[in-house]
Amino acid sequence: MSSIKPVRKAVIPVAGWGTRFLPATKAMPKEMLPIVDTPTIQYIVEEAVASGIEQVCLVTAHTKKAIEDHFDRSLELEALLDAGGKTEFADQIRAIADMAEIVAVRQKEAKGLGHAVLCAESFAAGEPIAVLLGDDVVYNEGTPCLKQLIDVYNETGGSVLGVQTVPHENICKYGCVDGEKIGDRLYTVNDMIEKPAPEDAPTDVGVLGRYVITPGIFEKLKATKPGAGGEIQLTDALKALAKEEKMYAYDFEGRRYDVGDRLGFLEATVEYALRREDLAAPFKTYLKSILTK
Ligand code: G1P
Repeated sequence: MSSIKPVRKAVIPVAGWGTRFLPATKAMPKEMLPIVDTPTIQYIVEEAVASGIEQVCLVTAHTKKAIEDHFDRSLELEALLDAGGKTEFADQIRAIADMAEIVAVRQKEAKGLGHAVLCAESFAAGEPIAVLLGDDVVYNEGTPCLKQLIDVYNETGGSVLGVQTVPHENICKYGCVDGEKIGDRLYTVNDMIEKPAPEDAPTDVGVLGRYVITPGIFEKLKATKPGAGGEIQLTDALKALAKEEKMYAYDFEGRRYDVGDRLGFLEATVEYALRREDLAAPFKTYLKSILTK
């Protein structure tokens, strides 16, 4: 399909309070919590950039200034590092600011994920968007998670939701997708329910924080009434869009961590440290020593 518009823009909602991580998030955005030495939001932006995204819109709130600062230049720090001969660090922090064109819009009221995405309507300006949720960090050695979804979009021209099968008792934490399996990892989306009770869930296929969405979503979001939890849900707007357009769910390859959850965050910390050349050997020795005690 040659007429479809390429996916160049990503929307990353970061306005949430992070109550699951208090007290750490009292005065600091949850997206700045580091996995080893890198804030979780940087892993998300890196995935977007590695997937071909050129422009990123952070949907933010007044408590989240540190995130914008992280992706800005820090001239004093760069000068200090350069003067001290620490050019490697200076280059590293300069590179963060050059990764992508990053803009921020404010979500002025906490009205839900659907409302947050709607705040990026002028940023999208009629183009398809990728949406990445900051609580879901995905590690994949091969093709980045978002790129896998963009590849499906490029082939089909339809919106694509990143899904995996989750334990039955956990489907109540996710947007649940009902559809037909039409390929190795590919489903059509016929219906969706936000956070169903396990007994009401038609499947155990959950949306895990990655989406490629066609521009029709914005009209649907404007018409979406508050749903689960009294919030304007992206899932409800997607469900309405799926009635009018082809929509797909793709069972992406990769290990997904729920870094908004304490245990998920610890798992990410340990596994990312074990993947680091500079830390793997001594950290493994340390882990073995405490586990054998
Ligand atoms: C959001 C979405 C949900 C999705 C989940 C993935 O929920 O509403 O559909 O499955 O992210 O992490 P939240 O976890 O923000 O409540």
